Amino acid sequence: MTTITSLSASDREAWLPLWNDYLTFYESELTDEVTALVFARLAARDGIHGAIARDDDGRAIGFVHWLFHPSTWSSGPYCYLEDLFVSPDVRGGGVGRALIAHVREQAVDAGAAKVYWLTQQSNATARTLYDRVATDTGFVHYQTGL
Ligand SMILES: CC(C)(COP(=O)(O)OP(=O)(O)OC[C@H]1O[C@@H](n2cnc3c(N)ncnc32)[C@H](O)[C@@H]1OP(=O)(O)O)[C@@H](O)C(=O)NCCC(=O)NCCS
Repeated sequence: MTTITSLSASDREAWLPLWNDYLTFYESELTDEVTALVFARLAARDGIHGAIARDDDGRAIGFVHWLFHPSTWSSGPYCYLEDLFVSPDVRGGGVGRALIAHVREQAVDAGAAKVYWLTQQSNATARTLYDRVATDTGFVHYQTGL
């Protein structure tokens, strides 16, 4: 059975290899300073939140990160699910679905109006899951460098 718990300082050793695999998946690199800052903020629930999934043996097998922000369209906050990752050897077993459900529960508790997230159009695997648990809004994501 999968157990999902809030990230805390003691999860650092378990979280770090998963985080590095996630960055590799996105062909991205962050400095050690940024990774340390991200984890410190997650562990302190300082604006960003995280949960870690473990299997029956206590092995870390996935994580999810999210944050809340105010909206001009709602009295309650919106919940943005920023990162989701499941170890390749346990994919297809419902861990990703459970991590999304965990965020949804946290959003309900926080009085949020909705949970939303982005993914690359080409991420067919993730979209297989997302199409089962959420709605494709059709919005297109833009950004500009500063
Ligand atoms: C996307 C990701 C988190 C999904 O995690 P997961 O634990 O494999 O997902 P689940 O097992 O909960 O999948 C739920 C559903 O999607 C289906 N699904 C998941 N992966 C699938 C695949 N490769 N092919 C077909 N169906 C798949 C499952 O069959 C399941 O459907 P069901 O419950 O109706 O049987 C995982 O593949 C991952 O970490 N990918 C790399 C990082 C990534 O893309 N993160 C998301 C960034 S936006």
